[in-house]
Amino acid sequence: MIKKRMEDELNKQINAEFYSSYLYLSMAAYFEEKNLAGFSNWMNVQAQEEWAHGLKIFNFVNERGGSVKLMAIDAPKNEWNNIIEVFEDVYAHEQKITGLINSLIDVAIEEADHATKNFLQWFIDEQVEEEASVSTLLEQIKMIDGKGTGLFMLDRELGSRTFTALV
Ligand code: FEO
Repeated sequence: MIKKRMEDELNKQINAEFYSSYLYLSMAAYFEEKNLAGFSNWMNVQAQEEWAHGLKIFNFVNERGGSVKLMAIDAPKNEWNNIIEVFEDVYAHEQKITGLINSLIDVAIEEADHATKNFLQWFIDEQVEEEASVSTLLEQIKMIDGKGTGLFMLDRELGSRTFTALV
């Protein structure tokens, strides 16, 4: 049975993952408005992944005999000055999420909760991947100054991203 402190912290993380999903969906809408269907698709897939992250924790809390408590999801930002700014926000957000996962592991260690610590390792690996892919994308967008033919080409490329269900 999971301890109350750990359960509370995991419930907060469910909310953080669902908020991430909301944020990326808001960015998808922004790109849709700008007629950048590829970027919008990329953000949509990102939003689906974040929802799946939230559900992964949701299922874990249930498996451990804890109670899932869903909380209100904050309204995300919905306006950006340019594409570079959007991806700077994504990068900063993912770094913040990495910090939250690290803090969760600190709690798991303090509570001697090895099952949760082990479970969270997947998220550590996922964050390394996410930060790396977003950082690369941000650099590429800066290279093309967020416009012109480069943007058109990148939009085409990002249109091919698909969501793969988590195992
Ligand atoms: Fe679920 Fe991108 O952190």
